[in-house]
Amino acid sequence: MKTSLHLDIYDARHRAQAASIIKDGGTVVFPTETVYGLGADAGNPHAIAKIFAAKGRPADNPLIVHVANQQAFLDASHDQNQLSLYLVEHLQPGPVSIIVQRSEQISSATSTGLATVGLRIPQLDLCRDFLALCGCPVAAPSANLSGQPSPTNFAMACRAMDGRADAILSGPPSQLGLESAILYAADDQTLHVLRPGQIDLNSLKIDLAKAGFVGLSIHLPGSGQHVPPAPGTRHRHYAPHAKVYLYYSQDQLKELVQSLCLQNQSIALLAEPSQAIASQAGRQTSQFTLMPDGNYSCQAASLSEYEQSLYRLFFDADDLGCKAIVAWCPHQDGIFGQTSLALQDRLQRAAGKLN
Ligand code: TXA
Ligand code: MG
Repeated sequence: MKTSLHLDIYDARHRAQAASIIKDGGTVVFPTETVYGLGADAGNPHAIAKIFAAKGRPADNPLIVHVANQQAFLDASHDQNQLSLYLVEHLQPGPVSIIVQRSEQISSATSTGLATVGLRIPQLDLCRDFLALCGCPVAAPSANLSGQPSPTNFAMACRAMDGRADAILSGPPSQLGLESAILYAADDQTLHVLRPGQIDLNSLKIDLAKAGFVGLSIHLPGSGQHVPPAPGTRHRHYAPHAKVYLYYSQDQLKELVQSLCLQNQSIALLAEPSQAIASQAGRQTSQFTLMPDGNYSCQAASLSEYEQSLYRLFFDADDLGCKAIVAWCPHQDGIFGQTSLALQDRLQRAAGKLN
């Protein structure tokens, strides 16, 4: 197996070296604020083929493309409606991909033959610096093997992609920890959410009304409205090796743990986030604690910390040899007066409850 070059995104020379690899048709893993991506030149079908091979990605699953700034976004797309243009101007850079008509800059291979492409400008400054050096739109799905959870730090990215990518850029852990929202403005009154993410749809709706988009409806997947599918959501996703069980209440938790213990399953518990933990000074991330009964447990300090750490905990639970992950899933109304549609979506997919 070939080895991947390890580079550091904080080092300007390394960023330039990684950009040359992309320009020469190679593949580079790089950090973003959502998850780490496996990148290649979106205009070069030979480079794109390497992404599909490295991930074992189904051939009908188009890639998200990353650009450095608004001008590059407009150059990679065409014929956008007013709603779509508003989203680009107000939500980019950000953890949001917008489906638009693709320009000739984007190879048909990147979009698996579709006339559209998902574009986004990452929020992470160093990532945008790297993209600007590449000088081309960079296609990058999450840097995991197909079906597995996305890497949210350098070590996880190396576990998934060492020997499969030409280079891996180390950088900060992904601040958000879940993949971008995917939005598609079918026309100026119809906004489809193809994949939920960490954006506040309530305030977006208010902002859009203020901006003059009247009679707008926002359609969520599973809302009963026709939402054009993101092809990737048809496939098994975000799943660790351990089997994932979800609970919504303490009673459900008790029942689940009892029955799994009877089956002698070793369990990793991802408990409901607690504000009590949030008040402990300096506590940043949750890690598993070995319990007296031999199972592992952890509890995030907040909903956003739960989002940020979810995939890392999936990885850790697999490393610890746990056969079952029992994870709290937020209700529609959530905790702290807000919910996370993105968490619900990823947890339900990991548990095989959505397809
Ligand atoms: O946060 C993210 O979006 C990360 C980072 C690396 O930017 N990327 C990511 O890519 O999550 P990936 O490939 O794992 O997910 C891309 C999703 C897939 O479900 C795919 O089907 C959908 O985007 N998609 C891409 N192009 C599309 C298009 N033209 N129409 C509909 N869905 C599209
Ligand atoms: Mg993915």
